Amino acid sequence: MTDTFSHWDNVYKTKGHDQVSWHQSHSTISFDWILASVKPTDSIIDVGCGVSILADNLLTEGFNDISLLELSTEALNTLKLRLKKSEKKLSFYNENVLDFQPNNTFKLWHDRAVFHFLTDPKDQQTYLQKLDQYLEKEGFFLLSTFSPDGPKECSNLDIVQYDEAKIVQLLGGKFELIKTVNEKHPHPNGSIQSFNYFLFKKKHD
Ligand SMILES: C[S@@+](CC[C@H](N)C(=O)[O-])C[C@H]1O[C@@H](n2cnc3c(N)ncnc32)[C@H](O)[C@@H]1O
Repeated sequence: MTDTFSHWDNVYKTKGHDQVSWHQSHSTISFDWILASVKPTDSIIDVGCGVSILADNLLTEGFNDISLLELSTEALNTLKLRLKKSEKKLSFYNENVLDFQPNNTFKLWHDRAVFHFLTDPKDQQTYLQKLDQYLEKEGFFLLSTFSPDGPKECSNLDIVQYDEAKIVQLLGGKFELIKTVNEKHPHPNGSIQSFNYFLFKKKHD
């Protein structure tokens, strides 16, 4: 059994980055909702960013305070190289979100297909404690997970599927659900994966 870091680093070392199941050539719902929720000067973090195109898309829109957190060194180095000319607008964190201890807080915390890998309730609670600690009051939590009619695993790892009731219950009253939508994401191999997107706003108290 490989550890989580080796697992993910190996994925990015051995698979074409545009062949992974979660690949997008342009960010879709995340991009639209971020533009509609925050200003380009607001601080945004993409947790488990992989080699996602989201940061590129946001930089094009003038965003200038983007943090990128990723476990895989291989993936993060790919992003650092690709986004080198915008490095002054970016902060990179090569670490496990469960150990994250930044010096600042964020207006929007984005997670596409990362939280759903946490199958142990203790890890889920650690993640949610980090989210609570480092997301500003009235900040946004934009989460995307596999839906109950979607895959049960990804990249040979079990995942937890979420619908509205399940994620709202897990968040325990500290967040208000603003909107949710299902997306049928086209896998590069031609199949379809069902994702749910949730936009939450952190309550004031
Ligand atoms: C399915 S990919 C999604 C990547 C990206 N969010 C996207 O939408 O393209 C999951 C990513 O989460 C990262 N990851 C998994 N567990 C993590 C953890 N505990 N802390 C930080 N990153 C993690 C993986 O390395 C991988 O890049």
